[in-house]
This record gives sequence, structure tokens and C-alpha cells, in this order.
Amino acid sequence: MARFDAFSELFDRYADIIDHRYRPWLEQVLPQQAGRALDAGCGAGRYTTLLADRCQHVLSIDVAERLLTIARHRHPHPNVTFQQRDLRDLSVAADGRFDVVLAVAVVHHLPDPEQAVRHLASLVAPGGRLLIIDMVRPSQRWTRPRIVRYAVAEATHELARRRSLPDAATVLRLRLHSRRRSSPSCTPASACTGRPPTSQATQAGRPPARPARPPPSRPPAL
Ligand SMILES: C[S@@+](CC[C@H](N)C(=O)[O-])C[C@H]1O[C@@H](n2cnc3c(N)ncnc32)[C@H](O)[C@@H]1O
Repeated sequence: MARFDAFSELFDRYADIIDHRYRPWLEQVLPQQAGRALDAGCGAGRYTTLLADRCQHVLSIDVAERLLTIARHRHPHPNVTFQQRDLRDLSVAADGRFDVVLAVAVVHHLPDPEQAVRHLASLVAPGGRLLIIDMVRPSQRWTRPRIVRYAVAEATHELARRRSLPDAATVLRLRLHSRRRSSPSCTPASACTGRPPTSQATQAGRPPARPARPPPSRPPAL
């Protein structure tokens, strides 16, 4: 069972709560119209729908079958294909190239994130766009006390923002779930075009709008 299957519904609720951190930026940077799109590590399909509204066809893949089940149920779309696959197994020979490749909070889950970015970039069609939201440069070890402190801070932040105790409880439960591993700090967003996959190519895009005050430190990745 994939790690995210152990807390798929909890993660889906949590992802709803933090959606505001990413969606405004994605809405700005995604092309209004495109051909083929890939949502790599689509989770419950939250951003697949953004792609589906703008692209002719979307391939949405994830290793977590339970999250894919939620995605198929919640976001059925005639031009989306959901598949249980490891993003590292995608290839140009088997899958072709994509005009848009999106990976939200996924790359840091792979043992070699730089290789994952290179691989995703290799799937981008000429003139296409690679959009990655993830952490850069882990800056500190996420020990248990630090995770607990962060979880409380993030829950307090969401409580102030949404005035919802259940949402704050969801943040705490997700952050402290025993199957989650510790994560280093995370930047809100970075983007690159389909240029060669070097670290220089992942030039920072505009950060997403932040309607509310952010939590006290950058959030650990999901
Ligand atoms: C933090 S979640 C983000 C999900 C979704 N992109 C979102 O923003 O709501 C990370 C996702 O990456 C998936 N994942 C991790 N490793 C993967 C891999 N090698 N190939 C495909 N998906 C992977 C996990 O199963 C999980 O659904």
C-alpha cells in the first residue's frame, strides 16, 4: 500500500484546507488552452480539474490507489484518464510528451528529487510548460518536537483564518499522523518552462497570492 493510502481521506480534507496557498498561483500560470497535460502525483485530483478545464486531455497519475479512487469519484471528467503509476515509470516512448506537466508537492517524496525534476522536464513537449510546487533545500531536521510545534502553529493559523475547529483538528491530525514522515521546510512555488532540466532552469515563478498571514515558518511539505 502506498504511504498516502494510509490517510487518504484525511489528506483529502487537509488538501482542501490549504488549497488557497496554491490555487491562485496555478490559475495565473497555467495556460488558458493547451493540448496534453500530465498531473504527476495527482493525489485526490484537486488540480487535475484545473488542467481538465484548459487542456484537451489530462493524464493524472499517482501511486496511491485510494487517493485515485477519491479522485475518480470527486472529479470525473471526460477528458481525464486516472492511472495508478509511479511517475518515474512514465516515458516519452510509452506516453509521449505533454504540453503541460504539473507536480504539486510530489517531488520531495522521491528519493532523488533532482532526478525526478529532470525526468518530469524530459516529458515536456517543445514550448511546453513544467510547473512544480515544492520545497527547495531542506534547511532543518524535522524532529518530533519541531513537528508538533509546527502542527500547533499551522492549526492555530488555520483556526484564525477559517474560524473552524474541525479544520484546525484536521490539520493537527494530518500533521501528527504516524504514517507521515518528517519533512523539511518548503517554498510555496517555483516554475520552469520546458527548457533543459538543470537547476538553473527551475527559475522561481511569482509566488502565489497570500490572502491570510502565513504560518510562523514556512510549512513543511505535505
Ligand atoms: C502531498 S501529496 C500531493 C497530491 C496532489 N498533487 C495535491 O496537491 O493535492 C503527494 C502525492 O504524491 C504521490 N506520490 C509520491 N510518490 C510518487 C511517485 N513516485 N509517483 C507518483 N506519485 C507519487 C503520493 O501518493 C501523493 O498522492
